Amino acid sequence: MDVGAAETELKDVAVQVAAEAADLVRRARDAMVAGEPVSVETKTTDTDVVTAVDRAAEQLVRDRLAELRPGDHVLGEEAGGAAGDGVTWVVDPIDGTVNFLYGAPLFAVSLAAQVDGVSVAGAVVEPVSGRCWTAVRGQGAWLDGRRLSVSSPERLELSLIGTGFAYQAERRARQARLVSGLLTRVRDVRRAGVASLDLCAVAAGWLDGYLEHGLHRWDWAAGALVAEEAGAVVHLPGSDPALGADATFAAAPSIAGALYDAAVECGVKEV
Ligand code: IPD
Repeated sequence: MDVGAAETELKDVAVQVAAEAADLVRRARDAMVAGEPVSVETKTTDTDVVTAVDRAAEQLVRDRLAELRPGDHVLGEEAGGAAGDGVTWVVDPIDGTVNFLYGAPLFAVSLAAQVDGVSVAGAVVEPVSGRCWTAVRGQGAWLDGRRLSVSSPERLELSLIGTGFAYQAERRARQARLVSGLLTRVRDVRRAGVASLDLCAVAAGWLDGYLEHGLHRWDWAAGALVAEEAGAVVHLPGSDPALGADATFAAAPSIAGALYDAAVECGVKEV
C-alpha cells in the first residue's frame, strides 16, 4: 500500500471514531440541557474543568481504536498516555469543555494520527452542528467533503485574528498584553474557546490568522493539520523561539509575515 493510501485510511478511522464520540457527547449535551446534572471536576485551576462526558468520550475513542487499530498508541487529554513507535492517536474528547458546560453549542471532538510527532491525518467533529473537518498530510483539507482553502486578506489591518487564553491567571495577564498590542493593528480579534475549531476556521477563511500560547498537543494535533493543508503558514509549539516557547500560529500566507512581525513587536516572546 502506498503512503498516501495509508494516511487516507487513518483519516477514515479518525472520522469514524470521532463521529461516534461526537454522538455520545451530543446525546449527553441534550440530556444536560434538559436538566440532567453532569459531574464536573477541576484540573490545573478552578476554571480548568473536566466533565464525566469528557472522560466517557475519551474512553469510547480508546475502546474503538483498540478494536480498529490494535497496537497503535493513544495520547489523550483526560487519561494521558504517551507517543510510541508507529502511529499515535492524539485525542481531545471535548475541545471547548467550558462552552459545553455552559450549554453553548461550539465544541468539538478532535482526533489526529501522528507519526514521529507529526500529524498525518485528522478529524475535528462538532457534535451539535455535525460539521466534520478533515485533513490528510499532502492531500488537502475538507469541511464535510468540500475542499478548504485559506483567505487572502490584502493586509494585516484588514485581518480577523483568533486567539485563546490559558487557565493560569499570570499567563493570561501576559496574553492580554499581547492581544492589546495586536488589537490596534488588525480588523478585530475573536476568542471562541475551542482551539481546534479556531485552526479549522483559519482553514475555511473564517479567520485570517490565529495565535495562542500554551496549547497542548491534543488541542492542535488535528486542527493545525487542517489549517496547514488548506494553505496556512503554521508554526507549532516549540518550533520557533521568536514566538515564545509554546506558541501555536496559523495564518493566511498573505498576512502571515505581517502578523508574525507584529506579534514579535508586541512582545510575543514574553508570553
Ligand atoms: C481549551 C480550548 C480553548 C483554549 C485553551 C484550551 P479544553 O481546551 O481549546 O480554546 O484557549 O487553551 O485548553 O480545555 O476545552 O479542551
